[in-house]
Amino acid sequence: MANSNASGGLSHEKIETSNFLMIVLILVVLLFGGLVEIVPLFFQKSTTEPVKGLQPYTALQLAGRDIYTREGCYNCHSQMIRPFRAETLRYGHYSVAGEFVYDHPFQWGSKRTGPDLQRVGGKYSDQWHRDHLNNPRDVVPESNMPPYPWLLKDDVDAESMPAHMKALRTVGVPYTDEQIAKSVAELKGKKEIEAVIAYLQVLGTLVK
Ligand code: HEC
Repeated sequence: MANSNASGGLSHEKIETSNFLMIVLILVVLLFGGLVEIVPLFFQKSTTEPVKGLQPYTALQLAGRDIYTREGCYNCHSQMIRPFRAETLRYGHYSVAGEFVYDHPFQWGSKRTGPDLQRVGGKYSDQWHRDHLNNPRDVVPESNMPPYPWLLKDDVDAESMPAHMKALRTVGVPYTDEQIAKSVAELKGKKEIEAVIAYLQVLGTLVK
């Protein structure tokens, strides 16, 4: 051991007996590894281009998405189907990156107290969702999902929508001036439940 440092270079001994050097070099290695994994994804079409037919959420769907995050649905529901047989048999085609390019923030999640919702669009009728959100036990007797009866009573917050859509536009969601201008009128008088259902019904419908 005593001779291992004779050359004066960065020997193991020098690194392993210095906390500082050890920490710095570990960080350098992790950073490099991270960059090699992450940076190419920014340039890969399959991760940056929307899947065919993907549209930005309509004002109503977007309002529903806001309510989804406000109510913390993501605490029990993921929106990402992993490419494993058990998952694709149960939920359908695994999720692909191009489905989420307009999701800010994405709702992938990792907690599944309830089922994954990424392909729940079209699985049930609007009426089923209305009954289910009002009181899950009415349609799924063994359910332990909480009820959300206020969604049937409360109006959608229409006034804040244009600012919200403009903010999304700055991060790359291609809303037109016309869509933004019309959004308030589109949401006026709508109940929150209608927005949440519009959102749920579009989830995952582009990839079969
Ligand atoms: C405390 C956990 C929990 C929360 C929070 C929760 N859920 Fe659920 N959810 C469940 C469970 C468990 C089920 C399965 C039983 C059932 O269908 O009710 C479920 C089922 C569902 C289903 C049916 C999925 C299917 O494929 O059958 C939908 C849709 C759904 N939830 C939407 C929502 C929405 C929207 C919210 C937020 C407003 C929400 N959930 C909040 C636990 C939760």
